[in-house]
Amino acid sequence: MKILVINGPNLNFLGIREPDIYGREDYESLLRFIADVAAKHGDTAEVFQSNHEGAIIDRIQDAYADGTEGIVINPGAFTHYSYAIHDALQSISIPKVEVHLSDITKREEFRRISVTKAACDHQIYGKGFKGYEEAIEYLHKGGI
Ligand code: DQA
Repeated sequence: MKILVINGPNLNFLGIREPDIYGREDYESLLRFIADVAAKHGDTAEVFQSNHEGAIIDRIQDAYADGTEGIVINPGAFTHYSYAIHDALQSISIPKVEVHLSDITKREEFRRISVTKAACDHQIYGKGFKGYEEAIEYLHKGGI
């Protein structure tokens, strides 16, 4: 399966930013983790990270025509206010899973709202790196 993983702003700072919330493992470790999970399932997983809203939208639009069969997205803080990323996700019918390392439903008020959620097929919160694995497995199963 051809999977695209999109990580939004500040996720490249894993291990540096708020380790008590996001853990001490760095972004390279997350990339290795995703590569291992993909290899285990015989997938190709491209990981795209950007701190820029427009770049994320461009990558989602490119997925429409590049043969991507499933998207795992952690939109970072864009989750809480980017209607533009919601609309980009909504415009393509590829299965999509939204992942958050932390449990956004148990944090500050502003994080409890996900405006991207409605454009995704499934959400996984608060499971750290493992959430990406569950998301890939969900895409394989084609739903729950
Ligand atoms: C996050 C949660 C967001 O609220 C935050 O802005 C992030 C990371 C998570 O993975 O837990 O950047 O998406």
